[in-house]
Amino acid sequence: MIGRLNHVAIAVPDVVEAAAVYRDTLGATVSAPQPEPDHGATVVFVDLGNTKIELLEPLGENSTIASFLARNPAGGIHHVCFEVEDIYEARDRLKAEGARVLGDGEPRPGAHRKPILFLHPKDFMGTLIELEQA
Ligand code: CO
Repeated sequence: MIGRLNHVAIAVPDVVEAAAVYRDTLGATVSAPQPEPDHGATVVFVDLGNTKIELLEPLGENSTIASFLARNPAGGIHHVCFEVEDIYEARDRLKAEGARVLGDGEPRPGAHRKPILFLHPKDFMGTLIELEQA
């Protein structure tokens, strides 16, 4: 059911500093910081060709990235995102398998304006999983 790895999201305390590490130390192509108030983060996209890294700095009140950083002050892997062909079909199948879909279970537009859902990390070996309709 899941397809390509769309991105790995890394929570960071300072997205400009983190982008400089990816650009200067790792030699990657990075985007300008992009505020995503609906997602509680300022995002830098690191283009790796076959997939992306998203660097996420908390933005605004009640950011889930902020609570993650409170537990992991230096930053860390926040979630992985897999592509699915049909997000409703994927959701229904996962729920039938007993997996927990976060929130109200309705897909909403993600950082790429495509419908996304998040799955409970306790059902997936401690990893928060995002599904994005390709
Ligand atoms: Co994501």
